[in-house]
Amino acid sequence: MAQPIGSAQYSEKGGVGKTSDTDGLAAVAAERGLNVGVVDGDPRATATAELGVEVNDDTLTLNDLLVIPAKGDPPDPAEVVQDVLQPAGKAWPSNIRVIPAERNLAHRESDPAPIETRLARAILGAPEIDIWFFDLPPRPGGKLITTLLAAATTVLIPATLTTDGFIGVEQARRSIRLIRQGMNPGLGYTGIIRSIVPKDSERRGVHDEVDAALADTYPGEVLDVQITEYAIREEARLACVPITSAPGREAKILIGKYGELLDHLLTRRSLWPAAA
Ligand SMILES: Nc1ncnc2c1ncn2[C@@H]1O[C@H](COP(=O)(O)OP(=O)(O)OP(=O)(O)O)[C@@H](O)[C@H]1O
Ligand SMILES: [Mg+2]
Repeated sequence: MAQPIGSAQYSEKGGVGKTSDTDGLAAVAAERGLNVGVVDGDPRATATAELGVEVNDDTLTLNDLLVIPAKGDPPDPAEVVQDVLQPAGKAWPSNIRVIPAERNLAHRESDPAPIETRLARAILGAPEIDIWFFDLPPRPGGKLITTLLAAATTVLIPATLTTDGFIGVEQARRSIRLIRQGMNPGLGYTGIIRSIVPKDSERRGVHDEVDAALADTYPGEVLDVQITEYAIREEARLACVPITSAPGREAKILIGKYGELLDHLLTRRSLWPAAA
């Protein structure tokens, strides 16, 4: 059976739309009837909260999946993953399940144990999931990023039309290359998704400059579809509801954009084919 798509939303920079694009993609994929898995790889657990998963002392998280106990046989992630996958909250489609994050996940960054292959192994234990979305933290590589990219099949780089958005792309591309040279040679690259893009009425010269710089610096890598900035997105996040249940014209436009983005993921090949 073909490996399910595992799309990692990654940029070195914060606030570029990684979590929003992850949750938007998850919502539209679930609406289409796909069984969706979301991995929250960010210790701040933003996606976990937005997806309505409550983490209490008994909830197993990505941290529990990765941690290797000091004594005894390490549990096989493929066997424990079903206990870690949590249903998304009631406001979300029931065919979304989440590997939640928690603060302690931050400790894995300096964990000397060889944890980097554990998430990839866990994915094998959930063959019922049709498509995975990974929400990555804003970091220039490191153990968590490596672990997440080792489990992904492709990387989508969200970029705002700002200096940070632009800078975040380069490091993310570098991380993809490094992981392809080691942990995950088959890791693909979907391209750059311009996100939180100001509406035409709010667009300034600087946005056009960054837009042009992205196209010039990374020819062929900037996707045609872009995610516009609409207040409804922030409102949906605050209410912890999927964009697919949000009311109004702006929500409809965003749903359409995430749908186009999903189509791209489902139908296009990686910009960087796996080395033969
Ligand atoms: N299309 C959009 N329209 C309006 N606001 C948006 C849109 N997409 C994201 N936002 C808002 O922009 C902010 C940053 O987005 P998001 O949290 O998705 O970025 P991030 O890259 O995951 O950030 P971090 O690196 O801090 O995790 C959030 O407040 C989010 O609600
Ligand atoms: Mg985020």
